[in-house]
Amino acid sequence: RIAPATINVYFHVVAENNTREGGNVPDAMIQNQIASLNNDYLPAGLTFRLVQTDRTVNAAWYRRAYIGNAESTQMTSALSKGTGADLNIYTVGFKEPPPGEKPLLGYATFPWELAQNGKLDGVVLLAESLPGGTAAPFNLGKTATHEIGHWTGLFHTFQTGDDAFYCDTVVGDQVDDTPIENGPAFGCPVGRDTCPQAGLDPINNYMDYTDDSCMNNFTVGQANRLRAALSEYRGIPF
Ligand code: ARG
Ligand code: ZN
Ligand code: CA
Repeated sequence: RIAPATINVYFHVVAENNTREGGNVPDAMIQNQIASLNNDYLPAGLTFRLVQTDRTVNAAWYRRAYIGNAESTQMTSALSKGTGADLNIYTVGFKEPPPGEKPLLGYATFPWELAQNGKLDGVVLLAESLPGGTAAPFNLGKTATHEIGHWTGLFHTFQTGDDAFYCDTVVGDQVDDTPIENGPAFGCPVGRDTCPQAGLDPINNYMDYTDDSCMNNFTVGQANRLRAALSEYRGIPF
């Protein structure tokens, strides 16, 4: 039996102008994203409540707020609300990746980094990854589910301490019911089995890298881990 907890969400829409193409996503997409999160996190005992949406026009933040950089720091510092128990979500465009970096769907901070991160704490998403967005096959809202997984303390299912050979993992994702896989899965490779250890690769897990339509679960172990981390680091009681 799981005692549910409610997480207040502050939603920050950052756009380069007031058009939808410029990042000004409509309230309906935000509502659908919250509904999608509530569906995905229900077995884990988490409910998300949208308490406020603000809209900011800032082309530099919209185009260049990549993890750890000046634009991201300025954006989150300026817009963050609430406490470490509250979830700040930012939507941006990621239009100008730093040299050598790939297009991005999102990023997040971990709960044990809260003290040093302060106002940087939260989740930054590609606006068009929201349900109804244009970022197919990543436009069903699972990027938010995945990034909030990190925000609650979950690692990738393919996490390892040794990038050379994932199956030989020592550290792993620190969850014992997610089968080990030899690196991220893409698309939706049904039946993939890349490691000799028990279990098919967890391609349907929200913490893998598959298409949104392929993702449909957290394991019991992940639910336990995320509740423990939210309780320990964010003071959210269960
Ligand atoms: N690659 C990103 C990360 O590592 C997000 C992956 C989201 N995947 C998806 N199907 N929406 O955090
Ligand atoms: Zn991730
Ligand atoms: Ca296996």
